[in-house]
Amino acid sequence: MSDIRDEVAAGFTEIYGSAPLGIWSAPGRANLIGEHTDYNEGFVLPFAINRRTVVALGAREDGVIRVASAFADEVAEIAIAELSPERLRDWSAYPLGVAWALGQHGADLGAVPGVDLYIESTVPVGAGLSSSAAIESAVAVALNEVWQLGLDRQTLARVGQLAENKAVGAPTGIMDQSASLLGRHDHAVFLDCRSLESSLVELGFAAAGLELLVIDTGVSHDHATGGYAARRASCELGARLMGVGSLRDLSVDDLPRAREVLDDETFRRVRHVITENQRVLDTVAALRTEGPLAIGELLDASHVSMRDDFEISVPELDLAVETAQANGAIGARMTGGGFGGAAIALVPSEGVSRIQVAIDGAFAEHGFSQPTTFTVTASDGAGRD
Ligand code: GLA
Repeated sequence: MSDIRDEVAAGFTEIYGSAPLGIWSAPGRANLIGEHTDYNEGFVLPFAINRRTVVALGAREDGVIRVASAFADEVAEIAIAELSPERLRDWSAYPLGVAWALGQHGADLGAVPGVDLYIESTVPVGAGLSSSAAIESAVAVALNEVWQLGLDRQTLARVGQLAENKAVGAPTGIMDQSASLLGRHDHAVFLDCRSLESSLVELGFAAAGLELLVIDTGVSHDHATGGYAARRASCELGARLMGVGSLRDLSVDDLPRAREVLDDETFRRVRHVITENQRVLDTVAALRTEGPLAIGELLDASHVSMRDDFEISVPELDLAVETAQANGAIGARMTGGGFGGAAIALVPSEGVSRIQVAIDGAFAEHGFSQPTTFTVTASDGAGRD
């Protein structure tokens, strides 16, 4: 971390000609379990990972906000009072969208001082590890402090989600920003997406001799288009036809009625969400009573449900999961929104390299591009560095 912080400070100084006022950072996340449940007001169990987005911030005398980053050539600039989703484009829609969204949550954008931002990240983009939420959360905590807004972390999560929904145009839920803001070393964030109540659940992977392996398939996904929104629409349809406000209001006991009321496809979408909510609750209970060695079957079942019922997996993700399982993983599943991105596998520490080699071999055999595999640990959420 200290390396990237130094880089970010140097990058800031190079572009803006003075040293930054401070440095803030926020992690990406991996979702242990609870997929496509957040926008159905259900349960999720993500954790913040040890890959972060770092933002250096400098104060300005005027009301202008500028953003630059290592991954874009141009410096974006706009008067804060003129921020609106329609005016934001490209990657700068993430940080500038957050500034706009803070205004929707009480910040007086006509009165706050201008800022210069410079951003770098070690969260892989497009891997389903929420590189976008990491940007949003890092910028949100930085501006919240410098603009003295005093917003709590639940509200900052809503700010990030609003930026994502309106400025970026991806109809995503509240999970990613919550994980990035609320994460803690060696813990997952158990979040009720209806009340936004959360609690930390100890993971204890290292103590149990386990590692969490991420297999980034390199298959790119984009939640601003296509499949993600279609799944969300199916869930809303299912809830409407079942006569409830959201799928959160249904449990496994409602499945027989859902089978009668819904067409087959909608039924399977609904069944995924209902059973996935239950799996989150079961995983939390298993972690709290028995520890991580007891959660493998739940991870495996989650993947099957996403593959067969929710239909958001791709052959590369299935292959990664199956190969990990066949080579000693305790459990494995795709993570994130789907249609590409990454799978996670919970594996005994001594088996990590064997599984990596097996996955590389299986991908080569199937003619798939080589995936990137790396381990992650559960880390602290966003804050000032
Ligand atoms: C993406 C979204 C989240 C969540 C997941 C699926 O990561 O950003 O809000 O819906 O997909 O669980």
